Amino acid sequence: MKLLGVVLPLFLLAASHLCSAEDAVAARLIHILRPKFGSAGTGAKMKGVSCSSWQLAVETDNLRDWSTIPAGCESYLGHYMLGGRYRNDSRVVADSAVEYALSLQRFHRNTDIWIFDVDETSLSNLPYFSQHGFGVQPYNKWRFGKWVMKGAAPPLPETLRLYKVLVSVGIKVVFLTGRTAEYRNATVYNLKKAGYHTWEKLILRSANQGGTALQYKSEVRARLERGGLRIVGNIGDQWSDILGSPEGERTFKLPDPMYYIS
Ligand SMILES: *[C@@H]1O[C@H](CO)[C@@H](O)[C@H](O)[C@H]1NC(C)=O
Ligand SMILES: *[C@@H]1O[C@H](CO)[C@@H](O)[C@H](O)[C@H]1NC(C)=O
Ligand SMILES: [Mg+2]
Repeated sequence: MKLLGVVLPLFLLAASHLCSAEDAVAARLIHILRPKFGSAGTGAKMKGVSCSSWQLAVETDNLRDWSTIPAGCESYLGHYMLGGRYRNDSRVVADSAVEYALSLQRFHRNTDIWIFDVDETSLSNLPYFSQHGFGVQPYNKWRFGKWVMKGAAPPLPETLRLYKVLVSVGIKVVFLTGRTAEYRNATVYNLKKAGYHTWEKLILRSANQGGTALQYKSEVRARLERGGLRIVGNIGDQWSDILGSPEGERTFKLPDPMYYIS
């Protein structure tokens, strides 16, 4: 993963700005993905499960409440995240979201909103996770918090593309994140720097707000609807972003094999 760590800053720069440069970098990383077998991570019961099967089970929400990726899958997931497949998978999600947004014939400029999650949806923490085993290392709140405070996360290019379409057609954007209020300034700074220049609301979690992310986000969405807003779309990388009534009229799930938030 050392090599990937070195290539990463270039890759992300390329990913957000220059398609041809990105392709050149990705091309060097692409290789035939032989199934690799994982161990540890979610425990002995995952021994002997191929990394691609594990990944599919994660993305379909069949595997829940896992804390780290299987130890043997670090290289597999590193190549997934950086070798172009993550970008390609995200592109399909953004394409269908854009198509849906453009198909909304009569939307209401004042009340229609689209919910965006922040981490691994609007912003990418890949520079951080590439240094920490792509989810193989247990989550370290303090270390991750320090990274968030830097406000240095690049955008997920595909999400930024969706965002720009929504802004251009007049659907308002609401960022809803599990980041707590102490990260508000860093998040505002980072979103703007990443190209998200305008929004209706940026909702962070207050320190006294208990419960799971799923409960917290559903409650916020219910409150937004009670306030007269209509959630036409909702995009996130975690199932807890898009499950729980009211979900929004359509939901879009971005890939995230690196961590799980319930
Ligand atoms: C990504 O998609 C492009 C076509 O859109 C394809 O040429 C390329 O091989 C894909 N990359 C990977 C790693 O699958
Ligand atoms: C956040 O930014 C505002 C205005 O820019 C400033 O007044 C406030 O002190 C900042 N808060 C923190 C915690 O940095
Ligand atoms: Mg997220």
